[in-house]
Amino acid sequence: MRRIDSPAPAVASHAADGTDLYEGLSRRPLSIPSKYFYDDHGSALFDAICELPEYYPTRTEQALLDRVSPQIAQRTRARHLAELGAGTARKTRYLIGALLREVETLRYSPLDISQYALEQAAASLSGDFPELTITGVRCDYTADLDALETGPGCLAVFLGSSIGNFTHLAGVVLLRRLRNQLQEGDWFLLGVDLVKPAPILEAAYNDSAGVTAAFNLNILRVVNREVGGNFDPGDFRHLAFYDRETQQIEMHLVARRDVRVHLQALDLTLEIPSGERIHTEISRKFTRDSTARLLTDAGFHLEEWFVSENGYVALALARVAAEGGTARPAEPQ
Ligand code: AVJ
Repeated sequence: MRRIDSPAPAVASHAADGTDLYEGLSRRPLSIPSKYFYDDHGSALFDAICELPEYYPTRTEQALLDRVSPQIAQRTRARHLAELGAGTARKTRYLIGALLREVETLRYSPLDISQYALEQAAASLSGDFPELTITGVRCDYTADLDALETGPGCLAVFLGSSIGNFTHLAGVVLLRRLRNQLQEGDWFLLGVDLVKPAPILEAAYNDSAGVTAAFNLNILRVVNREVGGNFDPGDFRHLAFYDRETQQIEMHLVARRDVRVHLQALDLTLEIPSGERIHTEISRKFTRDSTARLLTDAGFHLEEWFVSENGYVALALARVAAEGGTARPAEPQ
């Protein structure tokens, strides 16, 4: 982890030592953890995805935040805003602006895996909000959530439906850790992408400009760099589809031909026959019920539910449940 109150060279790196890569690539079905998408180039590709006509989540959540931030600020009156995976904080600025109209002082503590994104966030926010104190930390929030600075009157935020990249169980583990860093009565704002007709979802992950395909393939370059691999991205093609049963998008890379790859640092050689897939991402889609269940299982209580005008995305405002440190087990269904 690295504090970035002062400028530092923009390099992306991962807290992981490759153990998670070994786990995903030494067994079938093959998989690569989604966090390896986000080196500097991957983060730039993701920013480009957010501008695509087919990729509605970012602009829809932004419009929703623009509309409901005053309500969230009045309800929470938070003096400390702590954000997981802040990126360049383009959307968080609505909340910051609204909170600064309610409270005297505000501290903003973003966590992100990309130092470059954090520096961009700090530079643009300190220009626009001179009264804001910013203390960013570069780290992998799945490994190092203790690095998140929290404080009295805290509102933790996790936007962009990044929670969708986690299985229910992994999401509960992550959010319970977050909950344990907060005090009773503190707040949590979670952004989720909602269940909707498959064609809309599938278009968002199969854009006509091919940016999502480039984003998916870039993960192989990151793996090459992290563990001395020789994946040729040209040997694979992008595959993304919606599974109605599990209510999630799945992304894979499909071998176009028989491929042999050596991963030096893992001491691993892979034989991948033509047509075999490497699983790279799930992106879960939620309902109010499935969001409330996730929050309850993690020790939060859903207080308010804000839905975008087109019904595509939602923001769940939750509060740390009063239960003395340990989360109540899931209600039987
Ligand atoms: C950043 C995880 C919310 O799942 O929609 C975008 C990542 N993957 N296009 C998502 C992503 C393919 C995105 N999240």
